[in-house]
Amino acid sequence: MMHYRVARFHSFLTLLFFLTVSFTLFAQTVPTDDESIKSGEQLFKTNCYTCHRVKQKWTGPALAGYETRVPSIAWTIEWVKNSAKLIASGDEYANKIFKEYNNSQMTAFTNLKDDQILDILAYVEAEAKKVDAPAPGQDTAAQAGGGAAVPSAYLNLIIIGMFVILLLLLVILVLIVNALKKFLNQRDLSEEDKDVVESPYTAASIIRSPGFIFVVVFVVSAVVFKTVIDGLYSIGVQQGYAPKQPIAFSHKIHAGVNEVDCKYCHTGVLKGKQANIPSANICMNCHTYIQQGAISGTAEISKIYAAVGYDPATGRYSGKQKPIEWIRIHNLPDLAYFNHAQHVNVGNIECQTCHGPIQEMDVVKQYSLLTMGWCIDCHRKTNVNTKDNAYYDKLEQLHKAAKGQKAAMKVEDIGGLECAKCHY
Ligand code: HEC
Ligand code: HEC
Ligand code: HEC
Ligand code: HEC
Ligand code: HEC
Ligand code: HEC
Repeated sequence: MMHYRVARFHSFLTLLFFLTVSFTLFAQTVPTDDESIKSGEQLFKTNCYTCHRVKQKWTGPALAGYETRVPSIAWTIEWVKNSAKLIASGDEYANKIFKEYNNSQMTAFTNLKDDQILDILAYVEAEAKKVDAPAPGQDTAAQAGGGAAVPSAYLNLIIIGMFVILLLLLVILVLIVNALKKFLNQRDLSEEDKDVVESPYTAASIIRSPGFIFVVVFVVSAVVFKTVIDGLYSIGVQQGYAPKQPIAFSHKIHAGVNEVDCKYCHTGVLKGKQANIPSANICMNCHTYIQQGAISGTAEISKIYAAVGYDPATGRYSGKQKPIEWIRIHNLPDLAYFNHAQHVNVGNIECQTCHGPIQEMDVVKQYSLLTMGWCIDCHRKTNVNTKDNAYYDKLEQLHKAAKGQKAAMKVEDIGGLECAKCHY
């Protein structure tokens, strides 16, 4: 009797045990709701992003499709919390990927809770499902900058092509008319018909006519005129200028894919006139370290090492430095004054408004015209950023008093068209 009860009690416990286990297992399915995905994104960015990308191999594997590789979700949670422990326990898959990644140790995240890890996985799975949107073309973007170099070239081609086709048509028509005339002259025609056939408008007479000469002269001078004007306008204008740099530095890799903030490298933009080109020491903040990762020892990276006198084999600096000679792309003449802090910091204008989609460029090109007209045009159209800027409160009051409550205060209203503001 007693035995029986104990046995019953045991099986009850076992049942309870299984229930809890299966309940926890059940709880450990990856959520799919937006809130989890969102919190997962945040956690992923702060904890995992240094080593993992969802769709790209980084220091660690691309996490997309991880669920098809790992033994289970529970395993993954254990792995993230402490991969070293799992490897030491002799777990087969853990040891396999550890070897595959040259025994590089993943950080232990003992502080993360189970559902936080599940949120991360939710984000990874959601992200993996997304189809990559095609990158917007740079050429369409370039048109917003004011000039339309490519379309204008096409336009010329089209016009010339149409002209050639018209000439060909004319020649063919003249040939047909002549053939017809010959054919008709061999027949007996009435007087009336003869008049028509022998009309005074022959090809030769047309070409010699004042009307025709006028048209030809007009077309030719128009073409010459346009070429000269184009030439005059483009003196000193370097839109599209994209020289080859001494190191194949890519903004797409740094500012785009790796999302490094522009200001991390261009340290001057918030403070002063110049944006500054970063010194090689700033490159070294990352490239001494990334060296162990995917891009060790490429020819381009060794140019950075040469510039700062660093020997990657010994990890020592020789003290011999040789600055990288970046070629300057944007360059206003000395007579003009432009200040970055005024526009970026005070005016709150995005870099991309003036420089275009730099984060998509492998090679930087001058996106805007940088002419006086370009500056003035924007000063006429753009509202002054008066928000959270007490300096403008008084000005704005005066402006509204003068021009009505609804009148927006443009840059021109604060003196943005005065010669002396831009010219020394
Ligand atoms: C310091 C770099 C580093 C960080 C940070 C890191 N990992 Fe890893 N991770 C790795 C490496 C390297 C591997 C490959 C196995 C190994 O060498 O240990 C890996 C493997 C994995 C795997 C196995 C993937 C597979 O396809 O088999 C998962 C899952 C994983 N990491 C998740 C995460 C999550 C989630 C985070 C953030 C909470 C994270 N990792 C943070 C370096 C890192
Ligand atoms: C990792 C450092 C780094 C980051 C981040 C970075 N840049 Fe640069 N930038 C450079 C270097 C180096 C050059 C000079 C070489 C070149 O022109 O590619 C440069 C050149 C430029 C130039 C042309 C300068 C000239 O000569 O006229 C512009 C404009 C520019 N960057 C804008 C940006 C913007 C906008 C961002 C953010 C979206 C950004 N950069 C992010 C390093 C960086
Ligand atoms: C915030 C970190 C960071 C900084 C600062 C940085 N880089 Fe990078 N760089 C990276 C990363 C990440 C990659 C991409 C690694 C990969 O794709 O495998 C990279 C890749 C490169 C590459 C391509 C390597 C190849 O495959 O040939 C070059 C060249 C490069 N960087 C030059 C520079 C220069 C020059 C500077 C300084 C003006 C600089 N980097 C500053 C992080 C940085
Ligand atoms: C209102 C337009 C405008 C905005 C916004 C702007 N720039 Fe510029 N940028 C210019 C002009 C104009 C030049 C040429 C300046 C010169 O030659 O004196 C320039 C030059 C540069 C240069 C070349 C080197 C230097 O210091 O002059 C870099 C780098 C640069 N900009 C980066 C940036 C970054 C990064 C941002 C955003 C944080 C930014 N710019 C925002 C107009 C702009
Ligand atoms: C994308 C629009 C834009 C472009 C392009 C632009 N600016 Fe500006 N600029 C502004 C704005 C907005 C302000 C007002 C900032 C503020 O709140 O003080 C401003 C202010 C100024 C001021 C100070 C005006 C004053 O009265 O205090 C000067 C000087 C100036 N810009 C020069 C230039 C020059 C030179 C160029 C061309 C090389 C240029 N800007 C191109 C938008 C632009
Ligand atoms: C918003 C800024 C701005 C204002 C306001 C401005 N300019 Fe300019 N100006 C420029 C810039 C930038 C250039 C250089 C353009 C270039 O290199 O194509 C320039 C060029 C010129 C040039 C041509 C110099 C040469 O080398 O061709 C003259 C002349 C000139 N400005 C006169 C004036 C006069 C006069 C006024 C006042 C009515 C004025 N500017 C107001 C920005 C300005």
